[in-house]
Amino acid sequence: MKSPLAGRTYRGKRLLFAALAVFALLAFAACSPVGPQDYIGSQEGSQASRSDQLWDLTFGIAAVIFVIVEGLLVFTLFKFRQRPGREAAQFHGNTKLEIILTIIPSLIMAGIAVPTVQAIFDNSAKAEGALEIKVVAHQFWWEYQYPDQDLVTANELHLPVDQPVHLTIEAATEDVIHSFWIPRLAGTQDAVPGRINTLNFVPEETGTFWGQCKEFCGLSHANMRLRVHVEEQGDFDQWVAEQQAPAAAASAEVAQGEELFMQSACAGCHAIEGTNAAGTIGPNLTHFASRETFAGAMFRRTDENLNQWVANAPDMKPGVTMPSGIEELGLSQEDVDAIVAYLQTLK
Ligand code: CUA
Repeated sequence: MKSPLAGRTYRGKRLLFAALAVFALLAFAACSPVGPQDYIGSQEGSQASRSDQLWDLTFGIAAVIFVIVEGLLVFTLFKFRQRPGREAAQFHGNTKLEIILTIIPSLIMAGIAVPTVQAIFDNSAKAEGALEIKVVAHQFWWEYQYPDQDLVTANELHLPVDQPVHLTIEAATEDVIHSFWIPRLAGTQDAVPGRINTLNFVPEETGTFWGQCKEFCGLSHANMRLRVHVEEQGDFDQWVAEQQAPAAAASAEVAQGEELFMQSACAGCHAIEGTNAAGTIGPNLTHFASRETFAGAMFRRTDENLNQWVANAPDMKPGVTMPSGIEELGLSQEDVDAIVAYLQTLK
């Protein structure tokens, strides 16, 4: 007799199947060979391409092993399947076979280790004449110091193409652990308070590359992004010259904004060269308006975004150290407008 539940079970299975199909569709929709942080389809840094070569090699070897093992398995399942009047042979152990099956994988592992260890040593070597940059991670933004160029900037890193770079990476004292990652240029490196890690690579193509903090570091971990601008040497030199120039100023609203900035808590946390603002808790803003984005490269530097940010940063980025300008610092909307006007002049 047919069960009264049969129809319902069938419908349940169909629903389950549909749900799985939708889930798979959503999961695969996340795959993209042209995503800004995809590095399997595109590498523009020496360290990223070296790692990709190792991946290609190990994947190739793994694919060959997979085909051999699965092929033998399917062949055996078919050839020795149960048939009437046939009985399985009874035996235990085969020392010779076991020794062979231990030696072969050991040799493969040892073989892969040769280029791997070579790549690890090559990647950790500092090239002669490398551009030195100190990266300091903060909750939730990146500080970059160029000691030889005597400049400090934040979130958007500028590098000349084809010139080796040597990054020293650490987290600010009393901060938490972060991890610096620009997938298309190089592997990840942890930023730890009180410990200096290094990262060496050569950017091989010009362009803008996205990066991301890769170690969970608090409420706005996902908002701790970064950008790298790889430029021709001439463009890089021009950027350096602009960064070294003193901060620009003038105009009525701008002057008012500057005054408010210096009098309020802003100046206690941010530095602007050539003014009294010398705080080091927040990003250095001397050439703030030369960056395309702000707040850990999360937001485009538009008047509207900046206005919201100065008025109420915690609304835009949960867990941020920057206080709400209106509620906590007691600024008026006009004050916020003036401060934004001033910030936008800091080219
Ligand atoms: Cu910083 Cu995650």
